[in-house]
Amino acid sequence: MNELTEISANITDYLAEQENKGFLRFITCGSVDDGKSTLIGRLLFDTKLIFEDQLAALARDSKKHGTLGDDIDFALLVDGLEAEREQGITIDVAYRFFATDKRKFIVADTPGHEQYTRNMATGASTADLAVILIDARKGVLTQTRRHSFIVSLLGIRHVVVAVNKMDLVDYSEERFREIEAAYRAFGETFDFETLEIVPVSALKGDNIIERSPAMPWYQGMSLLDHLNTVEIGSDEAERPFRMPVQWVNRPNLDFRGYCGTVVSGTVRPGDKVVIAKSGRATEISRIASMDGDLEEAVSGDSITLLLKDEVDISRGDVICASDSRAEVADQFSAHLIWMNDEALYPGRPYLLKTGTQTVTATVTELKHKIDVNSFEHLAAKEMHLNEVAFCNLSLSSPIAFDPYETNREMGSFILIDRFTNQTVGAGVIWYALRRASNIHLQALDVDKTAHADLKGQKPAVLWFTGLSGAGKSTIANLVEKKLHARGRHTYLLDGDNVRHGLNRDLGFTEADRVENIRRVGEVSKLFVDAGLITLVSFISPFRAERQMARNLVEDDEFIEIYVSTPLAVAEERDPKGLYRKARDGQLKNFTGIDSPYEEPENAQLVLDTVGSDADVLADQVVRYLEDNGYIGR
Ligand code: ADX
Repeated sequence: MNELTEISANITDYLAEQENKGFLRFITCGSVDDGKSTLIGRLLFDTKLIFEDQLAALARDSKKHGTLGDDIDFALLVDGLEAEREQGITIDVAYRFFATDKRKFIVADTPGHEQYTRNMATGASTADLAVILIDARKGVLTQTRRHSFIVSLLGIRHVVVAVNKMDLVDYSEERFREIEAAYRAFGETFDFETLEIVPVSALKGDNIIERSPAMPWYQGMSLLDHLNTVEIGSDEAERPFRMPVQWVNRPNLDFRGYCGTVVSGTVRPGDKVVIAKSGRATEISRIASMDGDLEEAVSGDSITLLLKDEVDISRGDVICASDSRAEVADQFSAHLIWMNDEALYPGRPYLLKTGTQTVTATVTELKHKIDVNSFEHLAAKEMHLNEVAFCNLSLSSPIAFDPYETNREMGSFILIDRFTNQTVGAGVIWYALRRASNIHLQALDVDKTAHADLKGQKPAVLWFTGLSGAGKSTIANLVEKKLHARGRHTYLLDGDNVRHGLNRDLGFTEADRVENIRRVGEVSKLFVDAGLITLVSFISPFRAERQMARNLVEDDEFIEIYVSTPLAVAEERDPKGLYRKARDGQLKNFTGIDSPYEEPENAQLVLDTVGSDADVLADQVVRYLEDNGYIGR
């Protein structure tokens, strides 16, 4: 055997050996200064997986950015991005890979800065184990409790608490025992399968790879020994088969393949499968992949499935083992973690994404928030950054899912803001609400068309929005009078009036305003169904709820009319004396003063009330209805 073949044989052996080693996926969580990045850097460095050139760059960077003089700053190894370095915090989730002779590791470095709970949840949803860092000088913090709670909520059953910076407390056993006792006291509530508490110094390398002589009183394993030996049952492959369809590949008439990644279970040609939503049953005829046809595919594999029968499947459908079909529902209970600076309000629509499915979702009921210090349940009307709550959600159309307890991939979701496209929440599904599946829509013979035909008009919502005192009600009232005079069938919903009846339980907090508009949106929808030209005069300050109201009816049934009046002018008019009260501090949350008004961006009509008479503006609205065929001339 010459030298080259020997090397290549070695490499092949090495790779084969790597292949057979188990994977352990873990996350690290802690506060910014707990030394998380240093710990990961230390693991990577001491398991010798840093390349020489990376080391040289690191030594250079340490001098430039580091806080350790001439020593190598391991944190820099992980805090890869320039921007992060400058702020001294880690932002996105970074996945690192390292290996020992026993195991391969994938570590998600999840930032600990308060506002980045989002990233932590992202990393946690695929992890088997969590390393929670505690600064020995600070002990157990609220953050520690929150991280432990999220870790437990997301189904991680194995936890290692690394009590770091032991060098800064003189390797004191007493201090360690104190923290250990404090953590165990609340950690017990989570019932983790394994919980190890290890005193370490990531900076000095104590108890990271090997037991440290600096802490002879510690009899347990080093961090790496524990990671190497902890037993993690991985049973993804034994769970029922699930593959969410990413796209349908149809290059020609003879080939129709469904592409996606297997999220659980195993699949072979000949297996009987069922499509979650339609319930259609069929059989796998082939499994195509980049490497040709497969005899078997398991969770994690990206494949293209070909089916025996022609069935109707599109993106978002889930192909399931036929003896274990996923659930399908449009309402369910879930735990939600809120990750956005702007609060969550029940009734406000967000996009919900799970697997390859995306639908519109609203929280219909906040059951309770959970205090991360005491784990008490608290009543709540809204959710703020980093809060966790148990709630009911309602979707615009049904999704296929499994409860998170039985399938993490199929039971988790994220919420996305419809305007900014940012991920604002993450959740885990517990169960579908049966009430949803037992109420069917009743088909009625006298329908919208019948109502509208009798009235000889095309029903619509005229949605007047604008500041208090802008002139909405004045103009809406004139429009209604003009329509009525022409024999049209109308109804005017006015904020002040509706708030005396249907909405008398609501005030002016953001949460209440969202609910105010949700109800009025639903009522307008019923009135449109009744064939009426429905005029709505509400401040309706938020874009999200105006959009929601729009989505309740057909596209051409919603006419947004922005009654545009500068704040100074509305305040000058002050017809009800409310601006004065607000300025005096006697009236809180007043729109335009200490509560925002979000101007419409795509209104069908903008009525400029400065310099135009209300009657002229009302005529403009009537003309719009004529021009667009809602009423005859
Ligand atoms: S909305 O913001 O929820 O759409 P809505 O149109 O129902 O408001 O009610 C607004 C009316 O309530 C105003 O015209 C005003 O007369 C009265 N009002 C009382 N308090 C407030 C407040 N804090 N902010 C705005 N309007 C208020």
